[in-house]
Amino acid sequence: MIQRPRRNRKSVAIRSMLSETQVKVNDLIYPLFIVDGNNIKDVIPSMPNIFRWSIDLLLKEIEDCMNLGITNFVLFPALEDKLKDKTATYSYSNENFYLKAISLIKKAFPECCLMSDVAMDPYSSDGHDGLVKNGKILNDETLPILAKMSIAQADAGIDIIGPSDMMDGRIGHIREALDNNGHQEVSIMSYTAKYASAFYGPFRDALDSAPKSGDKKTYQMDPANKREALIEAELDTIEGADFLMVKPALCYLDVIHSLKSNMELPIAAYNVSGEYAMIHAASEKGWLDYNTTFNESLLSIKRAGADVILTYFAKDFAKRKMI
Ligand code: PBG
Repeated sequence: MIQRPRRNRKSVAIRSMLSETQVKVNDLIYPLFIVDGNNIKDVIPSMPNIFRWSIDLLLKEIEDCMNLGITNFVLFPALEDKLKDKTATYSYSNENFYLKAISLIKKAFPECCLMSDVAMDPYSSDGHDGLVKNGKILNDETLPILAKMSIAQADAGIDIIGPSDMMDGRIGHIREALDNNGHQEVSIMSYTAKYASAFYGPFRDALDSAPKSGDKKTYQMDPANKREALIEAELDTIEGADFLMVKPALCYLDVIHSLKSNMELPIAAYNVSGEYAMIHAASEKGWLDYNTTFNESLLSIKRAGADVILTYFAKDFAKRKMI
């Protein structure tokens, strides 16, 4: 035999010299859940080691993460039902604890990169990402609400706006609203190809944000479709997005690869709550090894073409790198 591919796998030194893909802590964005109040660290049963934090404890958690080298965070609010209404007014109210948290975090850690969530569902009594009328999710009527929410977050000091709602035209609408309000430097990471996935279950437990009726299939994408992701990617690019995101990640590695091959903007992937819960559940049963399985998952997402990964594994990944 002249060709023996195994020669290039014969030692740790050669294998690491030839390793094609590396995940760095800097590639990762760590999602964090915030609740109003003090001294709260609520357990989320379907997401082990992920908590709903009140802002005082969240600041300590962020400091802990920064000491591990994590600099990027995405924040999600968990609201009491009494603050929710049909038009998500709390999302841009002066009283909003989420907006206060953004300001406090940026004041305490100006060097961190903070990303927001822009969608109606955490604030909506209907639990949908858009306005609901007669059982329909209205598109154009939702856009001004998303714009107001984005401006309020930008005023609070957010670095990256994360529209996760999948309404048509929202990137252009938000970009224009930000620019008209002096926020030309605030970036937009579009949830470009967000699928109507069953893997968001634990996240909806965490925020109590499941739709009260119907499902999200008229706005989130059909898991069967790949070419449709390119239509969304082209529109988001034209409308002014700075990053394009695919979500979930692991069942959609082909979509990540397609966007990476066809588009010039940085590609992000959201390694979602269900993907996190599966590995935890199997490793608790002793059926999978936690550290090697999550590492392999992150590696595969990076190899598929993601430049950035939003992942609940960020802290465990950073801890392992410190050892
Ligand atoms: C909603 C939103 C969802 C997630 C992020 N933003 C859930 C949904 O669309 O119902 C899911 C994240 C995860 O599962 O980790 N705007």
